[in-house]
Amino acid sequence: MSNIGSYEDRTKNFDWKIAEKELEFKEGHTINIGWYCSDRICLKGKADRIALFYEGFGGIKKQFTFNDIRLASNTIGKFLQTIGIKSEDRVCLFMDRIPELYLSFLGVLKIGAIVQPLFSAFGDEALYVRLENAQTRAIITQKKHLPKVRKVLDRLPYLEFVIVVDHSKSRVLEPKVISFDLQESKPVEEFETYPTKAESPSVLHYTSGTTGQPKGVKHVHYSLISQYLTAKWVLDLQDNDIYWCTADPGWVTGTSYGIIGPWSLGITQCILDAGFSAQNWYKFIEDYKITMWYSAPTAIRSLMKAGEKIISNFNLSSLRHLASVGEPLNPEAVIWSQKVFGKPFHDTFWQTETGSIMITNFPGMKVKAGSMGKPFPGIKGVVLNPKTFDPITEPEQVGLIAFQPGWPAMMRAYWNNEEKYREKFVKGWYLTGDRATIDNEGYFWFVGRDDDVINTGGHLVSPFEVESALLEHPAVGESAVVAKPDEINMEVVKAFITLKPGFIPGPDLELEIMNFIRRKLSPIAMPQAIEYMEKLPKTRSGKIMRRVLHAREWGEDIGDISTLEND
Ligand code: PRX
Repeated sequence: MSNIGSYEDRTKNFDWKIAEKELEFKEGHTINIGWYCSDRICLKGKADRIALFYEGFGGIKKQFTFNDIRLASNTIGKFLQTIGIKSEDRVCLFMDRIPELYLSFLGVLKIGAIVQPLFSAFGDEALYVRLENAQTRAIITQKKHLPKVRKVLDRLPYLEFVIVVDHSKSRVLEPKVISFDLQESKPVEEFETYPTKAESPSVLHYTSGTTGQPKGVKHVHYSLISQYLTAKWVLDLQDNDIYWCTADPGWVTGTSYGIIGPWSLGITQCILDAGFSAQNWYKFIEDYKITMWYSAPTAIRSLMKAGEKIISNFNLSSLRHLASVGEPLNPEAVIWSQKVFGKPFHDTFWQTETGSIMITNFPGMKVKAGSMGKPFPGIKGVVLNPKTFDPITEPEQVGLIAFQPGWPAMMRAYWNNEEKYREKFVKGWYLTGDRATIDNEGYFWFVGRDDDVINTGGHLVSPFEVESALLEHPAVGESAVVAKPDEINMEVVKAFITLKPGFIPGPDLELEIMNFIRRKLSPIAMPQAIEYMEKLPKTRSGKIMRRVLHAREWGEDIGDISTLEND
């Protein structure tokens, strides 16, 4: 059972100072996430506790105590300082979910530099755009990802160091490329953590919008306050828990709750980097006796599809609490999990920009299957009238989900994009870009996004980014990208294209274009369907009308098309 008290009690006298006090943080003092997640836990007497159980492809297993992660992050930090990385330099992590990714995350923060985690599945163009925007100074990667980095290196004058972590010996491999072998390096016992303050930048995550290139969401070290408390109260992490967050740190869930939340609480966590299968996942839970499991609807739907029979082959009785994030969690998934695991998945809603959980099915609170729950204590969440931007007071009306700014993990800026940042605030509210209704008991029910961003398996894909990449293929004249319904991923990417003269439509070209996007951007952004068009629907001013194509895909009413271009 949860030991955190009721939602009502926690909401009544809420103050973020509760977390400040527990973390022994005082205003004006140093606060460094890297230190809090390793050194402090050791100082609290948990140096020998396992911080990380890791399992990779081919059954490779490793484990690290909190003292191990303290030493490893010191060693990485020291190495970065030796080559000249300074506070606030951007250091990109471009690795699979190997231990070095987690250890480097803390090491970069310990020297006051900014961590920029990116999915290792990103193709060269996706990588280039994000490194260029952040003017990243160093990238930490693996041998297998070097070809993609090499492809963009010449175009990135600010990128001075490519650090390879899985080359056997530490040395210079080629211009700008050096190898760093953690095993071989002498562990750094004493290290002076950089004295970052509450507002010092910490993590830079990239997220997608409808227009323009991806935006860098800037977080600060003070975000720890929210991440710590929400991990404790919402994920209900307790001292002896064995926790599994299935998210990759390329995604904010994988950092806020795949590193910072659990480790700042001194909790043992498990990482599985061996692909998805129901068999693998259930075995992982059984083997490590996982008690708290934070996952995403697409994975849950895939498990549902694998059926119930397979579950009886495993002992999953260690599971105590389950939560989900990233996309709408269908009521069937909640009902199913109650049936097969004996407990429901607790939906949570938040965003890269919010940095921590905002709406939640608080432990102990009645779960309404299909609802995201209620705002976390201390968070003022509303739905706004889309025209007036005033809060809607009567229940069951669709409005824009908005929050009153001021919680600790709120983003502080979009990197070098003041204009887009300002657009997120209206009448003192932070606009999420999502729509919902609130019922008469204060529960939020997700309705949909308020823009064209595609949410495929929990990952946001910008139609603009895919359209731009499509135009770089020699056969593509014009392109429009929309979401297409999908049973498992909820949405997948669909591209409508016109061809340049001389190109013949057909399945071979379709496959070639799909692979082109997969290589340039990522497997997630790759269109799962391509439709050839003679002409794309456009406004009279020549703007492609995605919404006409979207409505067609979803069998919805096309709405007002008075601005549609005449033939
Ligand atoms: O559209 C909402 C959806 O995911 C978006 C945020 O995506 P991202 O910044 O990648 O961060 C996701 C993980 C924190 C939201 O604007 N979303 C997130 N959680 C939910 C959700 N949609 C429905 N239900 C949720 N629980």
